[in-house]
Amino acid sequence: MAAKPPTSSPDGAFYKPADTFFREHAGLGLTYDDVTLATLYSEILPRDASLETTLAEGLHLRIPIISADMDTVTEAPMAIAMALAGGLGLIHCNLPEREQLSQVSRVKNNIHGLIQEPIKIAPEQLIGDVLALVEQRGFGFRTFPVVDEKGTLLGLLPGHTVRPRYAAIKVADAMTPRAQVHTIHERELGDHPIARADRFFSEHIGIHKLLVVDNADRLRGLFTISDIERIMQERHAQLKPARDASFRLLCGAAVTATRNSTGELDRDRILAHVGGLVERGVDVVAVSTAHGFSKGVGDTVRLIREQFRELPIIAGNVTSGEGVDYLAECGAKVIKIGQGPGSICTTRIVAGVGIPQLTALYVAAQAAEKKGVTILADGGITKSGDIVKALTLAHAVICGGLLAGCPEAPGSLMEINGKLYKQYRGMGSLAAMQAGSAARYGHSSKDGVRKVAAEGVEALKEVSPPLDTVLTQLAGGLQSGMGYLGAPDLRALRKKARYIRVSPAGQRESAPHDIVEVKTGS
Ligand code: XMP
Repeated sequence: MAAKPPTSSPDGAFYKPADTFFREHAGLGLTYDDVTLATLYSEILPRDASLETTLAEGLHLRIPIISADMDTVTEAPMAIAMALAGGLGLIHCNLPEREQLSQVSRVKNNIHGLIQEPIKIAPEQLIGDVLALVEQRGFGFRTFPVVDEKGTLLGLLPGHTVRPRYAAIKVADAMTPRAQVHTIHERELGDHPIARADRFFSEHIGIHKLLVVDNADRLRGLFTISDIERIMQERHAQLKPARDASFRLLCGAAVTATRNSTGELDRDRILAHVGGLVERGVDVVAVSTAHGFSKGVGDTVRLIREQFRELPIIAGNVTSGEGVDYLAECGAKVIKIGQGPGSICTTRIVAGVGIPQLTALYVAAQAAEKKGVTILADGGITKSGDIVKALTLAHAVICGGLLAGCPEAPGSLMEINGKLYKQYRGMGSLAAMQAGSAARYGHSSKDGVRKVAAEGVEALKEVSPPLDTVLTQLAGGLQSGMGYLGAPDLRALRKKARYIRVSPAGQRESAPHDIVEVKTGS
């Protein structure tokens, strides 16, 4: 290791660590553009900086970026693309519960290595029953193993038989019988099951499914050729997927503090909702509200924690140490920080409350460290440099506007004066609240439009490239920042950051200036 150059004495007086810097600025609300980070001696190249982050036990991301639980940002296609790139998507809950559950299923069933719990059917079922199952659960596949009540493999129902014209035919009469189904004993999988399955598919032309069985010929798992091919390709991708212990993509989902007609928390409904999500394999639920330091949110978190002891819970939003303490004591492991920084938010204008994001993150980070919970910087991120600054205090960021123009975001394109746009709206906008998000802002869905004050706007975003391209740019920017600070990982980034305030002239100097720009940097 090369010797570190001797420290030059004036640095400490100008470039301050978080505790000194933010305490010297106590009483002043600072946000991303108000500060810049000082460079430090470095021995690492940006590409070697690790972006991995663990938000809670069992919730490990390859990149510290989460897509917001907003109805113009995250549904299944965004959540799949986020997890494939190593991040996490939080599926919003401004849609019927059943629809949200099926979106979670789509993510969790997207690509498996070994599917350990394949969806099975019984020989006496009709193909019509199978079609109904596909429809109801939103499955993107139609081939099903057929087993008896002990789980013994009887055959495989091929996808091409699962058609309405065969609805009245029994599964037993349409399936490929056991003797013709390709299987492998679980013992033969060895330490590299994906490589083993890959070899099998190369050696068996035209076979697309490989079933895993045990000594008693009970079904233990399933490989599909398309999953294996995608996984083999991913190994060469720049961004690696975020997966659970069963090799399924990570997926989060939002839940609300639903109330019944008497204004009480609807405990049964909340538990049934979370139960359904857990059954579909959700990795984390987010109790997302505008005001997380409130009884309704605390009680909801407590309720979920009591019933689902191992489930990671994200809760928010708060901007104070007391708010973090409260939610952590109620059982949240990951806490969302941000009130009013979002690009579509009007909370600060409408309600006169909220804290500029960097100060809020510093205050929250102090409490989070004591409580052993992690925090998410939610809202206000407009460029990769903001992510670097946010991650000097937080464990991951949540982005809405930065991702809403991607093809994976819900909504169709619209053309205005030759430019393409997608809709992006605040969950506190009137339109979104009418569609269901009123509880997030402390209103009842029955409150008439004139009774509630909107805290968000409806807007447009210019279309962006596919999510993978956007995330590669953001991750690259984050790694550059880490390289400048000599931080090999995010923990080191949090430890090493040195801040200085930027004057208005300094802010102008920070962006391209005094030129005619012919090509943007992004
Ligand atoms: P960005 O800046 O990424 O912000 O577009 C996304 C975050 O903003 C929050 N959010 C809102 N805040 N009124 C608000 O005050 C709203 O209508 C609204 N909708 C979303 C939310 O935390 C999201 O992740």
